Amino acid sequence: MLRAPRGTNDILPPESHKWACLELLLRRLSKIYSFEEIRTPIFEYTELFSRTVGESTDIVRKEMYTFRDKGGRELTLRPEGTAPVARAFLERGLDRGALPKKLFYLGPMFRYEKPQAGRYREFVQYGVEILGSPSAYSDVEVILLAVRIAEELGLMGTTLYINTIGCPKCRRVHREDFVKHISGRVGEFCPDCLERLDRNPLRILDCKNDACRRATADVPLIRDYLCDDCREHWVTLQDSLRSLGLEYTVDPTLVRGFDYYTKTVFELKWPPLGAQDAIIGGGRYDGLIEELGGKPCPGMGFAVGVERLLLAAEKGDKPLAPDVSIDCFVLFPDTGDKRVTEAGFGLLNDLRCSGLSSDFDPLRRSMKAQMKHADRLKAKYVAIIGEEEIEQGFITIRSMEHGWQKQVPAGSVLDFMKEAVSGGTD
Ligand code: HAM
Repeated sequence: MLRAPRGTNDILPPESHKWACLELLLRRLSKIYSFEEIRTPIFEYTELFSRTVGESTDIVRKEMYTFRDKGGRELTLRPEGTAPVARAFLERGLDRGALPKKLFYLGPMFRYEKPQAGRYREFVQYGVEILGSPSAYSDVEVILLAVRIAEELGLMGTTLYINTIGCPKCRRVHREDFVKHISGRVGEFCPDCLERLDRNPLRILDCKNDACRRATADVPLIRDYLCDDCREHWVTLQDSLRSLGLEYTVDPTLVRGFDYYTKTVFELKWPPLGAQDAIIGGGRYDGLIEELGGKPCPGMGFAVGVERLLLAAEKGDKPLAPDVSIDCFVLFPDTGDKRVTEAGFGLLNDLRCSGLSSDFDPLRRSMKAQMKHADRLKAKYVAIIGEEEIEQGFITIRSMEHGWQKQVPAGSVLDFMKEAVSGGTD
């Protein structure tokens, strides 16, 4: 038997109903917070990610699905959404329109990671990006939306971690002291970190290795090296979060795994998820558009893994409760009487044209088997049409929830059903 590739998921019913429910929630929140949808290609030129996410990051070094197409172009299945959004923003001239531009996306991303619960090779991200605002209030807005998502799913006890990683100006000064400090204890770091020391020392703080984490416990922190602009941004952000009553923890080692970040970085964690407890991650990227060849244009955003959010929702205080029922099952047994079939199909069609979700048994099994099928489909009502009903001009309606059964004149059955479904008959 052929199997799906490792680290991918088939989303089957009833799980797919929960996906739809969550996607609807995320789209509703996007509207409430005034973000418009953007859809970018699933694959991009590899260079887009190597230049922005960064050559020294785990994503670019180890996790990208990169291939050559038949024309010899080097392409990569997108591992994240920020760089593609920035590319599209610039390429399609949105930078010349009204700013800030607030965009959201919802779609699959691909990373060659070791699969485990909450970590997959194909996963879906919902993300938001605000382009063209240098204001710390945009950071606040983005963080507020992230927190709201967790609240909507009843995830009590999430922790908001924030940090600042400054801008290239303050980082240059910090880098010198940081490298000096690490160079004095190279024996304590893994080979990957020693490589990072040459290419991008701050990435060392990103290492998951316990020994490396211990060895960085007393490194010089970038927050002590901030330039005036970065310090003011950092102070405004924290003042605003405090004035809104939003609790947060400053984690000075939080640098996140992308080179495009500047100033604010943040993560929202929910401990009950275990190892993959970071549900939402984001930050500011004021140099990204310039890196792609545009004029300076600041940006800020976050992304959340939809699978991880669904796992969390299962354990949260407000589990998603999608409506998996149908309004009406039309039961018309195969009596050999053409009139029964015509009336059955006619009613099914009328119900559907009126917007009522309806189904029937194409296998035309016995009454008992059809009733069982209706039950499996979680039909609210069953409309029964047999020879007796045809002879006498009525249709039998059974409420599956309340157990009553009524004979309704065939001519008024559609109105009756519409009223019943809207809650007027029971
Ligand atoms: P990220 O932290 O790499 O950030 O991913 C954001 C979220 O995507 C994670 O918190 C997690 O929920 C989910 N995620 C990441 N990798 C996986 C995986 N392998 N399997 C399942 N879920 C996963 C970004 O991607 C940035 N582009 C976020 C951003 C937007 N920053 C600014 N704007």
